[in-house]
Amino acid sequence: MNTPDPQPAPTLAKDGGEDPAARTPAATSGPTGASTAAPFGTVDAVRVAGVTKTFGTRKNQVTALSEVDLTVRAGEFIALIGPSGCGKSTLMRVVADLEQPTGGTVEVFGKTATQARKDQDYGIAFQQAGLLPWRSVAGNIALPLELHGASRSERKQRVAELVEMVGLTDFAKSRPDQLSGGMQQRVAIARSLAERPRLLLMDEPFGALDEMTRERMQAELARISVETGAAVVFVTHSIPEAVFLADRVVVMSARPGRITEEVVTGIGRDVVRDQRLREDPAFFTKVTEVREALHGAPVASSGAEER
Ligand SMILES: Nc1ncnc2c1ncn2[C@@H]1O[C@H](COP(=O)(O)OP(=O)(O)OP(=O)(O)O)[C@@H](O)[C@H]1O
Ligand SMILES: [Mg+2]
Repeated sequence: MNTPDPQPAPTLAKDGGEDPAARTPAATSGPTGASTAAPFGTVDAVRVAGVTKTFGTRKNQVTALSEVDLTVRAGEFIALIGPSGCGKSTLMRVVADLEQPTGGTVEVFGKTATQARKDQDYGIAFQQAGLLPWRSVAGNIALPLELHGASRSERKQRVAELVEMVGLTDFAKSRPDQLSGGMQQRVAIARSLAERPRLLLMDEPFGALDEMTRERMQAELARISVETGAAVVFVTHSIPEAVFLADRVVVMSARPGRITEEVVTGIGRDVVRDQRLREDPAFFTKVTEVREALHGAPVASSGAEER
């Protein structure tokens, strides 16, 4: 299942750095990304093993996930791509403990998904920003901190850091309806980072953005993920977005959703993700590789939307 990499190692380090392929995190791992040498730490962020999820009644069943295995190392950035309806959101919801698997096991930092949720080990940002319209930008970002009892001064300091991180300092007092869609999404991302999660679960967070904003947000997310060292599981329909952001692109097939392939991008986390990377021939090579993995999978004809 794991495709050996037939391409020459990409040389994407632009600033005289070492060849990032030499630091490829999952170069020796199987399709489940089972841990080998661990540049990302020792305890895996996510371990999904043999997870199956069926919806519906006995007579009218939909198998959304079938025997899914996925391991995400601490600090690793995974992009999850696959045709519409293949179970990507279901997988995210299972990891986030918003949905119970029908079979198999889920561990988040070595704990049950439920325990990890209680311990606030992860932040969530989904396609809709999901902001509270009556609260300001600062109020929205502070919400998880308030819910978990952070003091007023702690909240103030953390919110100031976060609005700066996502470039919204001047808009801290604005309400969501005074912001563009991209700015709202940045608020949602800041909120997901509020409690410094070691894991971010992001389900098409940039799906509704225009291309320019989207590219800017991708660069910001790449920067934030390096700064915070958080592991990220990022669902997208965009192949270039997946390659741009991820250490590893995991490809799912149409229903019943299962992981069919994965492509290690070979782009080190410390490689600056900017326009030069998008124009690098090695980047295109990886985009093609993911495209072939996606189309080579037994997908339904109407399935994959690419941008
Ligand atoms: N609560 C539910 N009840 C019944 N069926 C569901 C439920 N949630 C998801 N499904 C089904 O599970 C399958 C996978 O859905 P899911 O939302 O995970 O797909 P997806 O890969 O995220 O698709 P998209 O790319 O369109 O967001 C679909 O067939 C969907 O109809
Ligand atoms: Mg979805």
